[in-house]
Amino acid sequence: MARILPKSGSPFVIFSVVFFFIAVAVAGKPNSFSRSLSQKKIGLKKEKLSHFRLYWHDIISGPNPTGVIVVGPPSNTSVTGFGLTRMIDNPLTMGPKMSSKLVGRAQGFYASAAQQELGLLMAMNFAFIEGKYNGSTITILGRNPVFSTVREMPVIGGSGLFRFARGYVQAKTHTLDLKTGDATVEYNVFVMHY
Ligand SMILES: *[C@@H]1O[C@H](CO)[C@@H](O)[C@H](O)[C@H]1NC(C)=O
Ligand SMILES: *[C@@H]1O[C@H](CO)[C@@H](O)[C@H](O)[C@H]1NC(C)=O
Repeated sequence: MARILPKSGSPFVIFSVVFFFIAVAVAGKPNSFSRSLSQKKIGLKKEKLSHFRLYWHDIISGPNPTGVIVVGPPSNTSVTGFGLTRMIDNPLTMGPKMSSKLVGRAQGFYASAAQQELGLLMAMNFAFIEGKYNGSTITILGRNPVFSTVREMPVIGGSGLFRFARGYVQAKTHTLDLKTGDATVEYNVFVMHY
């Protein structure tokens, strides 16, 4: 202790230094902006796993599309439309038919991110409106090679009942209209949350 003090240390300096170390020991780092918190205190009790099966409707044709191109492909020569970006507000329903119960919307965008095959970058929030999930969201970010039978993408987070969410989705095309481009995709969501 004495070695780190200046040789000319007055009793006041010594007192200040000692006081500083005691204060640090008692209160943590000076000017601290972080603290540790008990999970239970903020209502995070037991982590659980939930499974949802939803149908995602991408309507890009007709007078009321739910997906619109916001960035066109910069080149007409790319067969995959590399660069094309479409903003979506797609209905999520309980059954494969559009007329079945609406449980939420998939909001975000997808973009053609592959030059050799049709591979999309998906960035979207599933915003639920049904029952206790109303107002809660799940965030999905991943790669979607649309012509593969099952495409897996990570769930990277969530809000509301899905705070601290992690998991994955599996997307499987249910119907695809090659003329209009409209598609219905079955999404199976597996998510860990509290
Ligand atoms: C793409 O094709 C359209 C219509 O044929 C043309 O007007 C446009 O200039 C082309 N864009 C590029 C980047 O070549
Ligand atoms: C969901 O929450 C919103 C806003 O709080 C409310 O207006 C709406 O009626 C709720 N919907 C359902 C289906 O509970």
